[in-house]
Amino acid sequence: MGNVVKQTYKVTVEQRRKQSGHNSFVIWLFGLSGSGKSTIANALEQALFDEGKRTYVLDGDNLRFGINQNLGFSSEDRTENQRRVAEIAKLMVDAGTITIAAFISPLRSDREMVKAIVGKENFFEVFVNTPISECEKRDVKGLYKKARAGVIQNFTGISAVFEKPEGDILTIDTSQIPLNKAVVIIRNALSDHLNKPAFE
Ligand code: ADX
Repeated sequence: MGNVVKQTYKVTVEQRRKQSGHNSFVIWLFGLSGSGKSTIANALEQALFDEGKRTYVLDGDNLRFGINQNLGFSSEDRTENQRRVAEIAKLMVDAGTITIAAFISPLRSDREMVKAIVGKENFFEVFVNTPISECEKRDVKGLYKKARAGVIQNFTGISAVFEKPEGDILTIDTSQIPLNKAVVIIRNALSDHLNKPAFE
């Protein structure tokens, strides 16, 4: 880093946000595998996109095919996974885009790290708190079955920890709330983030 000098560019984040017509920030959806994060991310992006907003989704499974393909599910690898995603999300925010991220993000310390990288003013957390019994019943990818059989190790909720958040965080339980309602709840909670700071 010693020989690297930060370059500055003429077009600012404020200008990009202005051109987007809204503020840019990160919506961090976290929760167990099978809790419904990707489904919500998909529908939420569609809703915001249909309003004419600039959007992009960073999905844990998808990024593990590319930039994070050398990472597994040890706690060190999960931390590195989220660190990279946070840095990418930070760039997307700088680019003026509403960035929806869907990751298990099981540790409080990692979620704090992500918040610190992105900047707390650009960070909106949503805990997708679907009970593990429901996630396991769905088992869309067949991973819970494999985890129970010991074929997959370090599986979140079975053989690896998931730390629930503390404090006042928007929470969605997809076993209780239909998808369209979940999207409306999140969309309504975004008003402050969408409008600040350039659009007051
Ligand atoms: S995180 O813990 O590092 O945030 P991430 O969201 O990127 O996880 O990836 C989770 C996805 O990887 C799950 O949806 C599931 O499809 C898959 N997966 C494979 N092995 C595991 C495992 N041991 N624990 C959790 N998810 C796993």
